[in-house]
Amino acid sequence: LDGNGRWAKKRGLPRTAGHAYGAEAFRRIGNYCKAIGIEYLTVYAFSTENWKRPVTEVRFIMDLLCQYLTSELEEFNQYNVRIRFMGSREGLPAIVQEKMDHALDVTKDNTGIILNIAINYGGQRELVEAVREIAGSVQQGTLTPDAINEKTIEEHLYTRGLPAPDLLIRTGGD
Ligand code: FPP
Repeated sequence: LDGNGRWAKKRGLPRTAGHAYGAEAFRRIGNYCKAIGIEYLTVYAFSTENWKRPVTEVRFIMDLLCQYLTSELEEFNQYNVRIRFMGSREGLPAIVQEKMDHALDVTKDNTGIILNIAINYGGQRELVEAVREIAGSVQQGTLTPDAINEKTIEEHLYTRGLPAPDLLIRTGGD
């Protein structure tokens, strides 16, 4: 969801207003994807680098995520949307994690579009967590180093079970 800040700046609004409009725009995109039969939609909502932003902006984004995960729940079920998350739970406010767990639970039996929300996502963090899990299996003796291959890595990435993307959209227009 890049471009939110620039969108707001161009209109003389605070960056946070850009995020609020961005969340609204995403709601429309989600509806459109459902309508045209898209099976998987991933949205990059908050990256590990985004923690470096001013604390008020970070708090605003966390609040927006909580609001989104509350206000959309009924519609997720109505449209058979299954929620997934990718990213690290480490450092996320407890309330955000609670909303995430609730959304996972409420939508777990839905069989339609998978809406995968990347929160606290980072490519390097993803590799760290995959390596930790794999090392854990080696330590427990359920995996030998020689048996580690591309499939092992793939099965431990946040994207496990998801197909490779067909289309990547930078919402900022780049
Ligand atoms: C990037 O724009 C956007 C973010 C860092 C936050 C986006 C998150 C939300 C809108 C929260 C709600 C999420 C969902 C899924 C509804 P930017 O600030 O980098 O803008 P710029 O590219 O213009 O600097």
